[in-house]
Amino acid sequence: MWKGRLAIISLLVVSLLSGLSMLTVGGASDDQLEVYSWWTGPGEEEGLAAMAEAFEAANPGIRFVNAAVSGGAGSNAKAILASRLLANDPPDSYQRHAGLELLDDVRSGKVQDLTSLYEEQGWGKVFPKGLLDNLTIDGKIYAVPVNIHRANLIWYNPRTLRDLGIPGPPKTWAEFLDQAATIKGKGKVPLAVGPEWTQKHLMETVLLGELGADSYERLFSGDLRWTSTEVKSALDVFGKVLDASDVKSAAGEWQLQLDRIVEGSAVYAVMGDWSSSYLEQAKKLQWKEGYDVATSPGTDGVYDFLSDSFTLPTGVRSPDLSRKWLIECGSAAGQNLFNPLKGSIPARTDAPADLYRGYLGWTLQQWRDPKTRIVGSLAHGVVANNAYNAEIDSALGLYVQHGDLGKFASTVQQQFQETR
Ligand code: GAL
Repeated sequence: MWKGRLAIISLLVVSLLSGLSMLTVGGASDDQLEVYSWWTGPGEEEGLAAMAEAFEAANPGIRFVNAAVSGGAGSNAKAILASRLLANDPPDSYQRHAGLELLDDVRSGKVQDLTSLYEEQGWGKVFPKGLLDNLTIDGKIYAVPVNIHRANLIWYNPRTLRDLGIPGPPKTWAEFLDQAATIKGKGKVPLAVGPEWTQKHLMETVLLGELGADSYERLFSGDLRWTSTEVKSALDVFGKVLDASDVKSAAGEWQLQLDRIVEGSAVYAVMGDWSSSYLEQAKKLQWKEGYDVATSPGTDGVYDFLSDSFTLPTGVRSPDLSRKWLIECGSAAGQNLFNPLKGSIPARTDAPADLYRGYLGWTLQQWRDPKTRIVGSLAHGVVANNAYNAEIDSALGLYVQHGDLGKFASTVQQQFQETR
């Protein structure tokens, strides 16, 4: 009789405790690690799961809690994270891009200095200097990079080009606009776009292609004005490119943007190389056969990079546990497990190239080529802080609605000064 009651009581206690532990997701408990990202799509989800499994195997008794929030480029995740950070309810580690995207968190004390972890792990020697510079603010390092992605790419289905009699992807935006006239004449959409962030991603690649790497960098360092003749004429090209796209009817995420290329209703899409894992894993296509990719027009020899990185938030219950996750992210084993699934290349310089095949092998070789010119992405947080990026988003939204490029240029120029 008593035994039965005891059993019921202990069951109640256990369920109460597990209920409580559910409630502590976000406030972290000692036996679990909550990792926050926006990786919910095919490829990226598998990459994260592979690292999570390796983390759990290396840390017996610790459960990995995947707190990913869907929405490409962190479009939803970043907003929810902001409210959690404001409420002092950080996950045990969260995704940020290397570069100016980290600045707010550092200035407002939301993330901890990782310089000693870098020293302990010898990471100063295995990550490229340019990347380390983008993770360093006021002499301290604040995030651990897990990969390198490339933004300046144009994706297409080789069969569509063959059917249209187009010999190859455009080398300049002027050539793209020529092709677009032919493509439209044959009833197809020249360029597929997706939600607002994909349009900003497109604008970044048009600016890079039209201005060249030097002026692109001067634009984001403030040495070149958005209202200058040079930038206005690049924006003018962007306007024409957008007119050749399905921006007025585009709906859905970046994966749907690529679906239109795969099925052949649209010919090109400008997108980062997370596309490769989507096309290969979800669509079962092979590089060069089912899909192909080239550097976006005018950017041959340039690598517009971004890097997914993880942080150690201030106020987590177990900083040591978070550090163990960061060690997994920065380790050679973790990176080589994650990146082939994610469709990115390792941030570490010591990863064996032969693990990266097909598209990834092609891009890794260019990333490591000393002749390649590396610049940072706008849409993925390298060259603009969060406030500036948000202002560009609003101005771009208005431009897409009303078509006033002069207003766009002057607003963005003014916001550059105001958000510094
Ligand atoms: C980027 C991120 C990539 C991928 C992409 C699409 O910002 O760095 O890893 O998630 O968004 O969501």
